[in-house]
Amino acid sequence: MADAIHTLAERPSAPAEPKLALRDLVVMRRTASGETITATDRLTFDVAQGEFVCLLGPSGCGKTSLLNVLAGLVMPSSGEALLDGRPITGPGPDRAVLFQEPALFPWLSVLGNVELGLELTGVPASARRDIAQRWLANVLLERWADAQPHELSAGMRQRAALARALAADPDVLLGDEPFGALDAQARELLQREVQRFWVGSDDRKTFLFATHNVREATLLADRVLVMSAAPGRLLEEFRIHAPRPRDLDDVLIARVVSEIHTLLMQEVDASVAREMAR
Ligand SMILES: Nc1ncnc2c1ncn2[C@@H]1O[C@H](COP(=O)(O)OP(=O)(O)OP(=O)(O)O)[C@@H](O)[C@H]1O
Ligand SMILES: [Mg+2]
Repeated sequence: MADAIHTLAERPSAPAEPKLALRDLVVMRRTASGETITATDRLTFDVAQGEFVCLLGPSGCGKTSLLNVLAGLVMPSSGEALLDGRPITGPGPDRAVLFQEPALFPWLSVLGNVELGLELTGVPASARRDIAQRWLANVLLERWADAQPHELSAGMRQRAALARALAADPDVLLGDEPFGALDAQARELLQREVQRFWVGSDDRKTFLFATHNVREATLLADRVLVMSAAPGRLLEEFRIHAPRPRDLDDVLIARVVSEIHTLLMQEVDASVAREMAR
């Protein structure tokens, strides 16, 4: 039985030609009280072109910090963050970010938000409307094109944000708990949308999502990276071989979920114990 599990989840070697690469990444943050915190500690991993990777780790282990570095919003304190082998020096149209709270402009319609995303990445005005409408149809929001973001449910707003991110055709989609604030139904719908897009596209994008949900990570990812408690280091990685769409009730998938969950909980418990001993 153990062999069967390891055909689904094994500790792989790093992919050969990374789209994204972190090399000994240290991110230090300074709190309001002047204390310096090490958010990630010599974190090293690669994400291959077209790979879907999910990051799991205890709260405060540096997931958002490392995503911000990859988005070009925060600079490394030491080490490197590389995109196609070149150091990341700022944000760019080659990367889109999905946040837990969709960052839509409230004064623009849903269609206007997607069109603005296209404008910012240099798509000519004549092409924007068609592309935006197609993407709204892809996320089942065609009928809501003229609505204002506040008229949408949380799940619909996140679908609009997904349409805006993907319409701009980035190479890399970074997600910081993008489904974390949604109810179970909306979350499942979005997970399906993301999978459908990722599996269905000819030129597969590179996805890196942070999540707190082990089932979600196992459902979506080619590879699940588990980070240690703060300061975040890479603790373990699991390659998930199961074909998509995946069924979480499948006994082997359920075992992978359980294996990752046990590891994560051990790390959470260890970090709580360390915190109490301080
Ligand atoms: N802007 C900031 N200023 C100061 N400290 C910060 C800042 N952002 C994060 N930190 C600190 O860096 C550490 C890592 O935080 P980060 O948000 O990256 O963790 P996380 O893994 O995303 O946590 P969560 O799972 O709760 O979202 C924490 O100790 C946090 O307090
Ligand atoms: Mg975070």
